[in-house]
Amino acid sequence: MPTSYSRAHIILHWVTLLLIIQQFVFHDAISEAFRAMLRGTEVVFAPAIAAHVFGGFLVFVFALTRIAMRLSNGVPPEAEGPAAQKLAAKAVHLGLFGLMIALPISGAVAWFQGVAAAGEAHEVMKVALMALVGLHVVAALWHQFGLKDGLMRRMSLRG
Ligand code: HEM
Ligand code: HEM
Repeated sequence: MPTSYSRAHIILHWVTLLLIIQQFVFHDAISEAFRAMLRGTEVVFAPAIAAHVFGGFLVFVFALTRIAMRLSNGVPPEAEGPAAQKLAAKAVHLGLFGLMIALPISGAVAWFQGVAAAGEAHEVMKVALMALVGLHVVAALWHQFGLKDGLMRRMSLRG
């Protein structure tokens, strides 16, 4: 079992964070265009819309790449701690991977097939993503400043 994440794995983790921030910043154009599309109005694939579609597509591809890397190279063991803590970390990581896959799929079904329900699912999953990322960041801060167990170093290029 490796003792740290690979360089590629760490880079994909942090690039994904930046992409997810951009997905939250650039959604007005696609949200408006989607509402217009549902009303039957012709919509143009403007650059701000393309940024959301391609950004989300990259999140999807990077998540699948990380899962493939986890399966082929393995990942470091869970941080030391009570069983409940290890289980919670596993569940949150699994949930984050699930959302990094399901959000782009629901967005694509909404946008390319014009399905209103997929748009609604996308909005619900967006809230779930914010909640899980919030928990994830609080946990990382707790490890760093509460437990002081150096867990952050595993996701750092400086090791
Ligand atoms: C992880 C990737 C993604 C994230 C984090 C994300 C995030 C968001 C957010 C925050 C909104 C605004 C929702 C609201 O107004 O409450 C939104 C709307 C939307 N996104 Fe995404 N998105 C992602 C991927 C995609 C992809 C790949 C597509 C299309 C191919 C897409 C299509 C849409 C559409 C059509 C809307 C409007 C939905 C509606 O208003 O009901 N998204 N997205
Ligand atoms: C400021 C924001 C973030 C911080 C400080 C952070 C920190 C960390 C740390 C320290 C780990 C290693 C945990 C371990 O080895 O047990 C980790 C893993 C992980 N993080 Fe984050 N993270 C952040 C944002 C995100 C975001 C936005 C996502 C996805 C939406 C995410 C998804 C994951 C996943 C799935 C793992 C499991 C390891 C893997 O990549 O396979 N993180 N994070």
